[in-house]
Amino acid sequence: MTQELGRLEDLPADYRAALTRQNLVPLWPNLRAVLPPGKPQPNTKATYWSYEALRPLLLKAGELTPIEKAERRVLVLANPGHGLENMQASAAMYLGMQLLLPGERAPAHRHTPNAVRVIVEGEGAYTTVDGEKCPMSRGDLILTPTGQWHDHGHDGDKPVVWLDILDLPLVYYIEASYHIDGSRQTVKPDRGDKVYGHGGVVPSVDFDRTDRPYPMLRYPWVDARAALVALAENRPDLERVQVTYVNPETGRDAQNILAYYAQMLRPGQTLKLPVRSPAMVFHVIEGAIDVAIENQEFTLAEADTCCAPGYAAVTLRNRSASTSAFLFIADETPLHKKLGVFENRG
Ligand SMILES: [Fe+2]
Repeated sequence: MTQELGRLEDLPADYRAALTRQNLVPLWPNLRAVLPPGKPQPNTKATYWSYEALRPLLLKAGELTPIEKAERRVLVLANPGHGLENMQASAAMYLGMQLLLPGERAPAHRHTPNAVRVIVEGEGAYTTVDGEKCPMSRGDLILTPTGQWHDHGHDGDKPVVWLDILDLPLVYYIEASYHIDGSRQTVKPDRGDKVYGHGGVVPSVDFDRTDRPYPMLRYPWVDARAALVALAENRPDLERVQVTYVNPETGRDAQNILAYYAQMLRPGQTLKLPVRSPAMVFHVIEGAIDVAIENQEFTLAEADTCCAPGYAAVTLRNRSASTSAFLFIADETPLHKKLGVFENRG
């Protein structure tokens, strides 16, 4: 049984005023809030965003605000548990749906937070990261790691939308968030997704391996999907058909703070995820799934997104009895592991 502690109002008013004058705060009235018993009490609420519902509002932003006035035309998927104005999906994750219209260019900049994009709809757009021009197709994952120049352009004829995932809330919290504007990048001929697109071998020019921290920037969905299908066929008994997006040179997570995964649910499959400390984001690439997070349940159609707090029981269910479902997952695992606070409670 946890002991009740003294409250602020138990203290005399003149004593509280004397503390305040000297920038002092008594710990005991706040102790249970910052160190709750047994498990954290996250501000992150299980939250769902329908793509069908947000899409007209995003397209309307294209009419209301020209790209020069927005720089990045984004509707932020904000978690009400953190206050919408704080633009957080979880403690460390930011989510935004970004619209680029035909002919538009988003100018080059670089910033300290890491970003990735998952392409939601449209063809013909590209993002140039560190001089590498990455074409955007549905489901592709494109990294824009910390400090790397990036700009976007669109040579197609229909709107392009992608989901941005950043570690902005964390980098902002540690007061390390800033950006620098730049000029248009010179495009280099080499493409990481071309040379790392074949599992098990990496370039070793003159017997040397590269020491670039982010050798691969674009992870085509066709390859991730093929890996999932191969894994499922190879291991018919396997319950969790999942792959992790990694740095192909080191085998470690593709980025330092957030991790990215693709998962396949077999027809009709129900999958219970282990209860772990990091918050998670789910985005449906193909199919439709039910997501139960503790005692809440959401139905996600294609391109829908939801988030779950850490330490929550999450169950996924493929709504189709005849086709597989494919989803993209982001979470805070690398951050928790580096800080030594990662837990898997099974
Ligand atoms: Fe950016």
